[in-house]
Amino acid sequence: MEPVTPYLCRYKGYIFGVGEVTPEYIDSLETFEIRDSDVFLVTYPKSGTIWTQQIMILINEEDGMKDDYSTNMDKMPWLEYPKGRGDYAKRPSPRLFCSHLTPALMPLGLKDKKTKIVYVMRNPKDNLISYFHFCHFWNQLESPKSFDDFMEQYLKGLVTGSSWFDHIREWYTNREQYNILFLTYEDMIKDLRTAVQKICTFLGKNLDDRAIDRIVERATFKNMKKDPCANYEFFPENYINREKGSFLRKGVVGDWKTFFTVAQSETFDQIYQERMRDLPLKLTWDLKELPR
Ligand code: A3P
Repeated sequence: MEPVTPYLCRYKGYIFGVGEVTPEYIDSLETFEIRDSDVFLVTYPKSGTIWTQQIMILINEEDGMKDDYSTNMDKMPWLEYPKGRGDYAKRPSPRLFCSHLTPALMPLGLKDKKTKIVYVMRNPKDNLISYFHFCHFWNQLESPKSFDDFMEQYLKGLVTGSSWFDHIREWYTNREQYNILFLTYEDMIKDLRTAVQKICTFLGKNLDDRAIDRIVERATFKNMKKDPCANYEFFPENYINREKGSFLRKGVVGDWKTFFTVAQSETFDQIYQERMRDLPLKLTWDLKELPR
């Protein structure tokens, strides 16, 4: 692990939080045994991971999956953070996993294309804002000195998860190697029901309208925020500073407009153009706030 800051370190080109993983464990993921029935959710941090995690867990539960875990983090754990979650190899099928890793660090078995991966991306301006706030309340990360300073770190990819630009590019350009569904946070905000149905279809789950309604209801921002299984409030005080925020912070599109100056926005747009113009991505940067 190459130290980058007191809070960050680099391994195989990817930025982790200090003490989060060991090189041996990350190396072992290459041969991590993949089952055809496994399902993965992959995101760049702050893109709507715990939201989609909730949806995917509820879909599986409506389809009959049962377990004794009390939180979504245990029901659908992070591939790269197994600590305290037992031996993944001993979990019964179907196993659900989350990950923020890039393709180069993922198990090779995923390239068999049988295992399904849902990838969620979010426009990087809102992503940056969400990340900025997260760094203030997640004690394992350095609180940004200023918004300007954080934007600089983010654009350099000096945050856990590395660069948003590289993450999207690597998953998108390697998509033919995987059985992958791309979704955007903004499309989920615009029409949650359609997003849930899309995920169901991709996962091969034929749920009736009432089951879909129940999932949508439990995946709204308002309901997730008070759901102790889904809201990640279960982290102990040494991890989170409750006075400074929460995992479910605002949950909207276009919040970046209240933080970016015009100059910052223009700089960001220019960098976005330079780095992403060859990819046919259609991201939504703005939406009127929708009633919940
Ligand atoms: P904001 O900080 O902009 O509010 P992740 O789970 O990848 O860390 O992403 C966190 C972001 O997803 C936060 O964005 C959080 O509020 C948002 N989010 C979580 N659940 C949501 C929901 N049910 N509806 C809308 N946004 C949600």
